Amino acid sequence: MHENKFKHYIWELPVRCCHWINVASIVTLVVTGFFIGTPFSFGSSASDYVMGWIRFVHFVAAYAFAVSVLSRLLWSFIGNRYARWREFLPFLTVKGREKMVKMLRYYMLIDRQVPETFGHNPMATTAYLVLFLLYLLMILTGFSLYAEHAPQGLMHKSLGFMYALFSSQGMRLAHHLGMWFILGFVVNHVYSAMLMDIKEHAGEISSIFSGYKFTYKKED
Ligand code: HEM
Ligand code: HEM
Repeated sequence: MHENKFKHYIWELPVRCCHWINVASIVTLVVTGFFIGTPFSFGSSASDYVMGWIRFVHFVAAYAFAVSVLSRLLWSFIGNRYARWREFLPFLTVKGREKMVKMLRYYMLIDRQVPETFGHNPMATTAYLVLFLLYLLMILTGFSLYAEHAPQGLMHKSLGFMYALFSSQGMRLAHHLGMWFILGFVVNHVYSAMLMDIKEHAGEISSIFSGYKFTYKKED
């Protein structure tokens, strides 16, 4: 199937693990978060603790998510060139800006030929930069809401700047809106992954499971 192509190891194990832990935790956080925002009860019995369990699952997924995001950030200083933090700021270099223009021309249907990319596509990494800022917003507002029950605790004290910036309701609103922006990203992301898989013939979707891509060019 991949004859006359070059095989490259692009996504290292930590990148793939963080990707799929993020996906699983975001799905869990969105579903449980939706119910936290729109609570329900099975009846009037005092033993009805269903919302308590839903919040508990939200917090377990929240810790998994926060650890995974932090690990990916650390890996951006350790990993291969495709995982590096520089990849997420493509607009800082002339070469990066040229690649972005090429990609944009393809997306705007000006060019028909898709530019072959080895690692991330520079338009995608710009979107990931915004996504990581959203992750930061979700983690900061989430842990600040969470720490409200223990005003004497270390977590509350370290997040003091958040309580100065936001009211409780402001934090909840930002946390809720953040969810919709993440969902908006996901729709676009999965569509783009399928589009690139079909157009580039490089095995885009399988690459985020196996780590390998198959390209016509030998080098980037
Ligand atoms: C992608 C990540 C996340 C998503 C999509 C998400 C989603 C949500 C949503 C939709 C709500 C309901 C807000 C409302 O309408 O009132 C909520 C509440 C909450 N979330 Fe998250 N969340 C995420 C991450 C986190 C993190 C990292 C924490 C950290 C502990 C967290 C802690 C909380 C807390 C404490 C509440 C309020 C619970 C309550 O009032 O009972 N969330 N979340
Ligand atoms: C909650 C859902 C998802 C989120 C938030 C998400 C986010 C991300 C992020 C941040 C990256 C960059 C990876 C890194 O360098 O750390 C990435 C890469 C990738 N994701 Fe997802 N993803 C999601 C779901 C999916 C799904 C369902 C698929 C498969 C259809 C997919 C396919 C890919 C592929 C192929 C890449 C590598 C391509 C590239 O970035 O150039 N993702 N995703």
